[in-house]
Amino acid sequence: MESVEAFYNQLSNRYTELISRCVPRYDEIFYNLFHYIPNDLQPQQILDLGCGTGNLTAVALQHYPGASIHALDLSADILQECRQRFAQHKNVFYHQQDFSELNFAPETFDLVISSIAIHHIPDEAKTGLYAQVHRLLKPGGIFVWADQTRGVTDEIYQKHIARWKEEAFKLGSTEADWQLWMEHQEAHDYHTPVGWHLMQLEAVGFAEVDVIWKNIMWAVVWSRK
Ligand SMILES: C[S@@+](CC[C@H](N)C(=O)[O-])C[C@H]1O[C@@H](n2cnc3c(N)ncnc32)[C@H](O)[C@@H]1O
Repeated sequence: MESVEAFYNQLSNRYTELISRCVPRYDEIFYNLFHYIPNDLQPQQILDLGCGTGNLTAVALQHYPGASIHALDLSADILQECRQRFAQHKNVFYHQQDFSELNFAPETFDLVISSIAIHHIPDEAKTGLYAQVHRLLKPGGIFVWADQTRGVTDEIYQKHIARWKEEAFKLGSTEADWQLWMEHQEAHDYHTPVGWHLMQLEAVGFAEVDVIWKNIMWAVVWSRK
């Protein structure tokens, strides 16, 4: 089976156009992810988990142009696309790391963000990641992510997939695009119900946890240390 790293390495130069016609309300997801960051948080240190080509990193730069933004991804090739995209920005730093590494000192970050990336790791690893993020955040820091989730029943989940296909085709996806995502999903996606995520985030110590936006299987989950 092709690894996640190999999949994104070979997709790196056409990733952004593919994702734009595959994820419904992609811009709205990003809008909401930043909208709910509290006004009292002026982040100086931001970590973007699974940055890909830097679509979320770009929005973080618009909101917080003076912050140091750490873009982290497993795939060397996609990280290279990200590096080229922000070549003019001296405050973007690049880390080729797996989510299981997160090689940073405790309480380094004010804000940890992530979009459409955490579902690539199994549930046990997600819990480990949440504990690590909690450790890396300063007190009062925010962890906000957007991702695909699973329905609580198989029927809901299957209906989510059907609705996703409907919306992706409205955005211009082709059968070939759809097949690519379905093969990728089959090989290395781990969708988990949103309620499970909330429980895990509370269990690792986050004081306040909420779902601030949801559409079909995409959710934006917010937590404060
Ligand atoms: C669907 S892309 C999302 C990219 C970007 N955040 C966006 O919204 O366009 C998922 C990214 O997560 C990265 N990724 C997947 N598993 C990872 C892991 N275990 N550690 C670090 N990065 C990972 C992939 O290499 C890929 O670039």
